[in-house]
Amino acid sequence: MLSERVCLLSLLYHENQPLCIHCPGFSVSSISDFGLTIIPNSGAFKFRGACNAIFSLPDAQAAKGVVTHSSGNHAAALSLAASLRGVPAYIVIPRNAPKCKVDNVVRYGGKVIWSDATMQSRESIATKVLQETGAVLIHPFNDARIISGQGTISLELLEQAPEIDTIIVPISGGGLISGVALAAKSINPAIRILAAEPKGANDAAQSKAAGRIITLPETNTIADGLRAFLGDLTWPVVRDFVDDIIVVDDSELIEAMKLCYEILKVAVEPSGAIGLAAVLSESFRSNTTWNSCTNVAIILSGGNLDLGALWNSYMK
Ligand SMILES: Cc1ncc(COP(=O)(O)O)c(C=O)c1O
Repeated sequence: MLSERVCLLSLLYHENQPLCIHCPGFSVSSISDFGLTIIPNSGAFKFRGACNAIFSLPDAQAAKGVVTHSSGNHAAALSLAASLRGVPAYIVIPRNAPKCKVDNVVRYGGKVIWSDATMQSRESIATKVLQETGAVLIHPFNDARIISGQGTISLELLEQAPEIDTIIVPISGGGLISGVALAAKSINPAIRILAAEPKGANDAAQSKAAGRIITLPETNTIADGLRAFLGDLTWPVVRDFVDDIIVVDDSELIEAMKLCYEILKVAVEPSGAIGLAAVLSESFRSNTTWNSCTNVAIILSGGNLDLGALWNSYMK
């Protein structure tokens, strides 16, 4: 039975080296072990793709800097990776981005350029910055360098825990799951890759069902990192290599976050907790297709929670 054998380990980072922590005997409801946490520098997995993209640029190109538009985690990661290479990072951020994510960009040396919340505004401002600076665009997910950087998660995971048969991955634009799926299935073609997506931004689930990219007129979820839509690079990977998409609502997300804080003592943002919410959801547990999942890794993908907003709600 799946719920008795969900595995396994926590991948944390110490001096840039992944640490594998096994927690035998851990028990939350019927989960017998621990989930998987991947929270490297900048507070989310995004540092992997950002580093790969920036450090693979030729010197002359890198010197002009990089540009991106992002609601947060990619922006912070790109800022940090750019500062490590000593090149400028121009970050177009929508005005409604969580404050902690903007603070992270500034902390890591990124130059903030504000846009409206719409994708159209973000893209047109990024294009203008590109023209003015000659910098290189590093897209948050629809970029092969980003996808392959995120794929390093699978390499580390399967090196340390080759018995894993299922990986549960948050999905938004699909860069994370594309990298994870391509790398994991090239090592073990039988491994299952399941996406976890919020109900209020379930474009990927709708796209899988329709067999083509579906975008939504609007999104509504507390998972602020999961509101983007699939791109032309990530869609074929999601279509062909993602086995299923588990959709959860925000109340399930909040329960999973509570569990992370109260029991696991791990700081996770809503987008980061969605894999755990998916595994705990009734729709997953009651789906007989997934009964054979025995060693399940859950990617807890980010910890940049807007604590300011949380404190304010406390004070009310
Ligand atoms: C914490 C977190 N998890 C998951 C994702 C999803 O990544 P992707 O857009 O590559 O699917 C994001 C994207 O911003 C994120 O910030």
